[in-house]
Amino acid sequence: MSVRFTILVEPFRGASFLELLIFSIILTLALGITKVVYNVFFHPLAPIPGPKLYAISPLPISWSRAQGRSPYKFAELHEKYGPIVRVGPDEVSCAGPTSFKDLYGPRYGKGGPLTRDSRATPLKEKFGAVGMFQAGVQEHARIRRQLNPAFSEKASREQEPLVMGYIDSMIRKLRDASARGDVVDIEKYTMWTTFDIQGDLVFGKDVFECIEKEQYHPWIKISMAYFTSGVYTHALNDISSWALWVWQKFLIPKSFADAQDYHLRTTLDLVDKRMASKKTDHPDYMSFITSESKAGEVLTKEQMYANAQMLVTAGSETVATASATTLFLLLTHPEAMERVKREIRSTFKSEQDITAASVINLPYLLAGIDESMRVWPPVATSFNPRLMSSGCYAVDGYFIPEGSIIGIHNHAIGRLERYFKDAKKFVPERWLGDERYANDSRETFQPFSSGPLNCLGLTMGRMETRVILAKLVYNFDIELVPECRNWLESQKNYIAWHKPPLMVKLTPVQRL
Ligand code: HEM
Repeated sequence: MSVRFTILVEPFRGASFLELLIFSIILTLALGITKVVYNVFFHPLAPIPGPKLYAISPLPISWSRAQGRSPYKFAELHEKYGPIVRVGPDEVSCAGPTSFKDLYGPRYGKGGPLTRDSRATPLKEKFGAVGMFQAGVQEHARIRRQLNPAFSEKASREQEPLVMGYIDSMIRKLRDASARGDVVDIEKYTMWTTFDIQGDLVFGKDVFECIEKEQYHPWIKISMAYFTSGVYTHALNDISSWALWVWQKFLIPKSFADAQDYHLRTTLDLVDKRMASKKTDHPDYMSFITSESKAGEVLTKEQMYANAQMLVTAGSETVATASATTLFLLLTHPEAMERVKREIRSTFKSEQDITAASVINLPYLLAGIDESMRVWPPVATSFNPRLMSSGCYAVDGYFIPEGSIIGIHNHAIGRLERYFKDAKKFVPERWLGDERYANDSRETFQPFSSGPLNCLGLTMGRMETRVILAKLVYNFDIELVPECRNWLESQKNYIAWHKPPLMVKLTPVQRL
């Protein structure tokens, strides 16, 4: 027995079980109190404003996340405490006008960009390679270089017919539904369409057939469930990494484990098939990734496995949310809807005139989409906040040490009167030079984020949203079912917004 151990146990020799128990409880309490005192008064993040309860433990913010209320909570905290708030013992939320530039920027000479905190990400490294959302600085930059050719202007131009094909199919299905007199859930149609588009761009063919069959493919349902489970996993990890381990190892429900297994096998199968076929008859992502990357920079099969789900979901759910939300806000602001109708119907003589290039000439629609993404950003929170992986940093005069987590939350920023006059109102005019909004802090509006980890599919995302809306309004007079008037405010957020049905009545526009 070591001398140190003997010294440690000596005082307890002869102690009864009860005495040992009482001592253990007192020790645990003392350690807990010391930790609380340290977190609140002596922790390097202690000077940052925020509720004391949040400084003590990660549980309050995890609780908001687990309840799907975190976007609202971040807004409330920034409203009360200002542009920088301590939201956990090691976590800070920033909403200053230069936050994106300072924190999500390239940080030249300061150790490079901050990468995402992926410590509790499920499926990490399950594919034999890390995905873009889990990669460290250098690995991320490498994957991004490999993917870049698939997201260039040239690629988007060549992919346009594929995108148009699916949106046209959606319009045809909606015409059929309206002929039957159906009231339709337009949110579902936008989700089906954008998932079909991204499924085809990633896997090389219409793998999901959602629009065709007017139903979700199971792979998509499981992908969306991953978002929700990711939030719970994160919360569990905040309690203890042991709790997470026990959950993942022993407690995970069989039905969910089976679904995960199916999802994994399907992803591998779809990637294998696409990679084996070498070429497709249309330019999907893979054809650019494999043919245009520099030598030695081609994405491996394992990397493709690891990134496939991310590419499909990042590019579909977001666009569907932007499209459905803009439509909802137009429907609940009849004057704005009238202007959009006039603009679209006077600009295009026929449906074929609606193209990726021509939708740029719809200033009011474009302002409406921007305003919708300000009021209700598809990516509402920093779903994977950044980890201060090396070195330390000063933000707004506060010292942020290594190991801290920093997030910028778009939904909170958009609701702050400090940055936007009439912040909670939907006012497309603010983007069209209206004097009343001249002092808005436009640099805080970054729905696609900014810096080296910003949205890779920005061009495609904007294009799809504009075309979907232009085609919907060109083809139909749209009426919101009154029961859906609280559609936005009723939503919860688990990385993605949980959108209830958005029921509308469609009447085809009669043209001579
Ligand atoms: C309205 C539509 C969209 C919005 C609002 C949006 C927003 C975002 C945001 C906020 C991020 C996180 C950036 C960060 O962590 O700083 C992101 C990342 C990403 N998005 Fe989008 N997105 C949209 C559409 C798309 C589309 C169509 C694609 C195409 C596949 C796409 C692909 C990606 C990828 C690959 C990333 C990860 C980038 C990286 O880690 O380097 N997104 N997006």
